Amino acid sequence: MATQQRISIHGQWSNRLAFILAATGSAVGLGNIWKFPYITGMNGGGAFVLVYLLCILCIGLPLLMAETMLGRRGRQSPINTMAALTAEEGGSPIWAWVGWLGVLAGFLILSYYSVIAGWALAYVFRAASGMFTGLNAEGINTIFATFVSDPERLLAWHSIFMVMTMIVVARGVQAGLEKAVRYMMPSLFIILILLVMYASTTGYFEAGFDFMFTPDFSKLTWEGVLVAMGHAFFTLSLGMGAIMMYGSYLPNGVSIAKTSLVIVSADTTVALLAGMAIFPIVFAHGLEPASGAGLIFKTLPIAFGQMDAGVLIGTLFFVLLVFAAWSSSISLIEPAVAWLVENHGISRVSASVYLGVSSWFLGIASILSFNYWEHIKLHGRTIFDWLDHLTANIMLPLGGLLIALFAGWVVSVKSSYEEMDNGRRGYALWLFLLRIVTPVAVILIFLNVSGLLDWI
Ligand code: TRP
Repeated sequence: MATQQRISIHGQWSNRLAFILAATGSAVGLGNIWKFPYITGMNGGGAFVLVYLLCILCIGLPLLMAETMLGRRGRQSPINTMAALTAEEGGSPIWAWVGWLGVLAGFLILSYYSVIAGWALAYVFRAASGMFTGLNAEGINTIFATFVSDPERLLAWHSIFMVMTMIVVARGVQAGLEKAVRYMMPSLFIILILLVMYASTTGYFEAGFDFMFTPDFSKLTWEGVLVAMGHAFFTLSLGMGAIMMYGSYLPNGVSIAKTSLVIVSADTTVALLAGMAIFPIVFAHGLEPASGAGLIFKTLPIAFGQMDAGVLIGTLFFVLLVFAAWSSSISLIEPAVAWLVENHGISRVSASVYLGVSSWFLGIASILSFNYWEHIKLHGRTIFDWLDHLTANIMLPLGGLLIALFAGWVVSVKSSYEEMDNGRRGYALWLFLLRIVTPVAVILIFLNVSGLLDWI
């Protein structure tokens, strides 16, 4: 079994826990705390959450396992892993393009991800300065509106965050954040629980809970279903090779099914907690759930401004949010960096700088989408909206669909069975979800949104 001896040239995780931490670090990020609440708000709540949870279970979990499996077998960057496995399993060389699609998606996502992470960074200092103390919803709203209307400020924070990302990637992901994630994740968890407890004192906890968990399908459009599915990919870092990359550092003999379950549970719990903290505040203060990308920056500071020790808790919250974003952003360019190192003999440092600087530059377009270019819209979307839509709702599901087809149909049952090692029944269920359910679901949702089904 030649494949069993392969080790990535970039190194390996020290153990199972290191992989779980890194992959959870990648998964838990702005997606859970910033994006999930605001897209839930924009898509009517309960029914959207239900579809999202279904997508996590039926598409996300099997695909997370598939990406990890492919990565561990290939032991290289996703582009080369796909090429190597294709050669091994006898598929068309076209499959290597899945790796390219992923690298592009990661690059595009990082450009705006860093902008929003910059907001979180700015809010660390705002919370620490006591700026929110005693303010009502209107005051908090004004602070946010003034902030995003200033492109220079946004650029400064975006730049700082991008440099932070480049530093960790340049040093190598394994050496980088492994230790930090170990403490940051549990702390973030505790702060979220504190926030949910605060939310339960607003008198609107039930309203928030109902909004999130009582499905009203009349409020959900096919577009909303697409967003829910896209977010399942986004929040688990799937469809672009990030998890494949991390899987390539995974030692043999670690159970892929068990680690994947841990990662999915942690990720989903954090998102649901964030929603339960935010929506009661939204309703208690008569805010608009559908107010868009600023939602957490317009709601949580109200809580920090009113609760005891709000300055401390608020500061800590934003620090942890920055860490969550940091441990995610590195996984967005790691596949591209690893590929440059493998194929072009470029050092990690130079590779990180090239990619970081280009992505930073593209990020400026997203910054301007919140001020000078706010009114430049194509089909109702700003440039930021387009980048988010194209990547999360189209490129990731498309990449995921191809990865599922590849892992399910091209990779032989013998190879994947040996790699998964999760018993006959578990394996059969996984294969069924991957071969049939994931592809059919993605294609059906795409067809419905594009309106093609109406023609038939
Ligand atoms: N999952 C992260 C979040 O929820 C974002 C992220 C990191 C990501 N790596 C990714 C999204 C790869 C898609 C693909 O914030």
